[in-house]
Amino acid sequence: MNYQTDIDDILSSLKTSLEGSSDIASIKLEYLGRKGKINSLMSKIKEVPEKERKSYGEKVNETKLKVEELITKAEESGNKKKIEEENNTWSDVSVVIRKEMGSLHPITQTKWLIEDIFQRMGFQVEYPFEIDSTDNNFTFVNMPPSHPARSSWDTFFTDAGDVPIVHTSSMQNRILKNNKPPIYAVVPGRCFRNESTDSRHEHTFTQFEGIVVDKGIRFTDMIGVLKTFFSEYFERDVEVMVTPDMFPFVEPGGMIQVRWEGQSEAIKKITKGTGWLEIMGCGMIHPNVLSMGNIDPDVYSGFAFGGGIERLLLIKYGIEDIRLFEKGDLKFLRQF
Ligand code: DAH
Repeated sequence: MNYQTDIDDILSSLKTSLEGSSDIASIKLEYLGRKGKINSLMSKIKEVPEKERKSYGEKVNETKLKVEELITKAEESGNKKKIEEENNTWSDVSVVIRKEMGSLHPITQTKWLIEDIFQRMGFQVEYPFEIDSTDNNFTFVNMPPSHPARSSWDTFFTDAGDVPIVHTSSMQNRILKNNKPPIYAVVPGRCFRNESTDSRHEHTFTQFEGIVVDKGIRFTDMIGVLKTFFSEYFERDVEVMVTPDMFPFVEPGGMIQVRWEGQSEAIKKITKGTGWLEIMGCGMIHPNVLSMGNIDPDVYSGFAFGGGIERLLLIKYGIEDIRLFEKGDLKFLRQF
């Protein structure tokens, strides 16, 4: 038996296979697998005359090592080639990131837009404490403990008796106390109310509050600021109107409305067909609120306004259900 020829054949056929194919895994199996060529050489040892068996065995083992070496080399250079190929295919990493990491929530986008518009009008941005005292939520905005309006805010309480803020008006007193007029501040932040949710109500929502105090501030200044804001926000010259309303912290108090033509179903529901959208509460800061903020109401006057950021989004995009904002539904969120 010419075992030397068999062994030589194996090495040369292996080299040819490796040069001709990139499927190294199959070649490995063909040579080194359990039923592969090397093992079959091993099993032929029985046919080798006894005195030659030792050297046959050694030869086969040597061949096995050579086969392993050739295959390992081929695997390594195959991997290198693959990596090079991958490196050569240019990929826009930012696209992957944008796709995989998501985008800013529409509420965040709108919050930033609001901050930007007011900052351009000279307002400073403040963020509310998300949990604050009952005094900041009620007493300091002219709702003493006995005030009936306190119960109309569906309030959550912590065990310590504090309040996950029911409105961003909770920051009014801090802003008045911590600043000297002229004061121009806008306060966007999350608010919480203990109410059952439906397409118009959420337990967690976002408001923004505006507060302005200076000498000689008048109601018309407020209308001018709000008209400018809404025109910027809706990207057109909007018509506004203020109708009388009652909030304990302002006197006179009002509801600012924006003229809305072109009625989608969603908008029709909100306007009740009037062509006017009630957007938010506003008014001249009540003298009691100024006094509690250590500001003399005989010297200074000011206005405040506050409302829901979700509402602005519902209106701008004709969205029908406020609960979509807290839901984390990617199909909805990816539209923004
Ligand atoms: N805090 C009021 C609310 O949550 C909104 C509001 C109305 C704020 C009138 C104001 C204001 O500053 O002047 O419903």
